[in-house]
Amino acid sequence: MIKKAVFLTSNSDYTKCPPPDKPEFAFIGRSNVGKSSLINMLTNHKGLAKTSQKPGKTQLINHFHIDDKWYMVDLPGYGFAVASKAMKATWEKMIRNYLTKRENLAAIFVLIDSRLEPQKIDLEFIIWCGENGIPFVLVFTKADKKGIEKSTANARVFLDRAIEIFGEEPQYFITSAEKKEGREELSAFIEGEVRE
Ligand code: GTP
Ligand code: MG
Repeated sequence: MIKKAVFLTSNSDYTKCPPPDKPEFAFIGRSNVGKSSLINMLTNHKGLAKTSQKPGKTQLINHFHIDDKWYMVDLPGYGFAVASKAMKATWEKMIRNYLTKRENLAAIFVLIDSRLEPQKIDLEFIIWCGENGIPFVLVFTKADKKGIEKSTANARVFLDRAIEIFGEEPQYFITSAEKKEGREELSAFIEGEVRE
């Protein structure tokens, strides 16, 4: 489990991020899916990453230093409907550059709302990750909202779609930031990756 989490920087430009000297794990997904909440849950640090009921809260690339060993990154969401076209284009470019050029990126966690059936935008995003060779892990969020059975069923449908696309099942976790579910499993996964 994470013992120490320190906020480092907020950037719009990946070249200004902390030196790429440690493994890095970033959290991404649709606006409001629960990226910042998951970071607070994992670090056991309410308010470390800024959360909001309104989508579009996180707007920059936010670096956190974890246990002096690795970087955790909170990213803005994609698919934020209220954003202007220009804003969307700017964010998209910033995220695309970061994801394809950040050299110490070990893996990204793609968050998926477990209340919903597979969404086109999420499927398109993981296809883009595949095309760009970006290793990703799926994290189904908000499992407390509709209950674990419904969440698991939705996750299953999404995973089956992913199998159709990639020929194998992506690694995945089912979580609730609210109930702190999935914390140990996700922490253990990251620790295993960092140790390698
Ligand atoms: P952006 O930064 O806008 O892209 O959003 P985000 O993905 O960082 O989402 P954020 O963590 O700010 O959470 C959005 C809303 O969902 C907040 O009101 C959270 O309290 C709520 N939320 C996040 N995770 C959970 C969860 O596991 N369960 C429940 N019930 N609510 C959650
Ligand atoms: Mg956020």
